[in-house]
Amino acid sequence: MVGSGEQDMSAESVTLSALPPELDRERLPQHVAVIMDGNGRWARGQGLPRTMGHQRGVDVLKDLVRQCGEWGIDALTVYAFSTENWSRPEDEVSFLMVLFERALRRELRNMVEAGVQLRFVGRLDVLPQRLQDEIALSVEQSRQNTGLKFTIATNYGGRQEIVDACRAIADRVKAGTLEPDDIDRELFARHLYTNHLSDPDLVIRTSGEMRISNFLLWQMAYAELYVTETPWPEFDREAFRVALYEYQSRKRRFGGLNSDSTRSRRP
Ligand code: IPE
Ligand code: IPE
Ligand code: MG
Repeated sequence: MVGSGEQDMSAESVTLSALPPELDRERLPQHVAVIMDGNGRWARGQGLPRTMGHQRGVDVLKDLVRQCGEWGIDALTVYAFSTENWSRPEDEVSFLMVLFERALRRELRNMVEAGVQLRFVGRLDVLPQRLQDEIALSVEQSRQNTGLKFTIATNYGGRQEIVDACRAIADRVKAGTLEPDDIDRELFARHLYTNHLSDPDLVIRTSGEMRISNFLLWQMAYAELYVTETPWPEFDREAFRVALYEYQSRKRRFGGLNSDSTRSRRP
């Protein structure tokens, strides 16, 4: 049975595969976040409906999750659906909701066996009930794992997340369990949806747009940004290797004059 006894494949039993020689294991980003953009344009370029781009995008994501696990990256966070994406045509939105639900159902077992810890961030309570059920199940079944922290941003908006954190903090102040003077950056970050994660070290955006589209606004304060023209459905292992290589050539300074680390620091 998944997650029990000898067949439990926690991180300890997932063997790290060799990194391409030009990548330095010590300087890999701990947390990679990805804005998976360009599905629609890719499909149009192939003479296909946009939905086929989304479908193909799921396969690409499956590969990336496997690769992050094998290369020993600690956390992967992907932007699957923004709070603004509801403004798309109804049939595209409902296609995406069903696609997410089916992909989760189909891939859950493999991910659990590979030690992946699944989490979701965003306003999940307004998603279709069937998707919410699948999300709850996948989080529950992967809870004991110690491998890749794989977080999917669904109905996620960075501004909404900050507003929600403010509300939660205000509630505590109102209840008398917190003093306004106790509110600092650490405490604020603990009230964000991403309180289980360190800040992203590297944010990748596929398909060329130079914007962040309301993704991880607070968390990406000092992330390295990498934008590639490659559309998400073509973002393969080689494209990821190139992104990591570029990351390792950056000099992170965190506002100082030099830095000996490519790893993110808490503010
Ligand atoms: C990203 O691809 C997937 C989602 C936002 C759900 P797009 O659907 O935005 O594709 P383009 O940007 O229109 O090509
Ligand atoms: C960002 O892509 C959201 C996701 C990848 C889920 P969009 O396609 O929604 O971003 P814009 O509209 O080009 O800014
Ligand atoms: Mg887009």
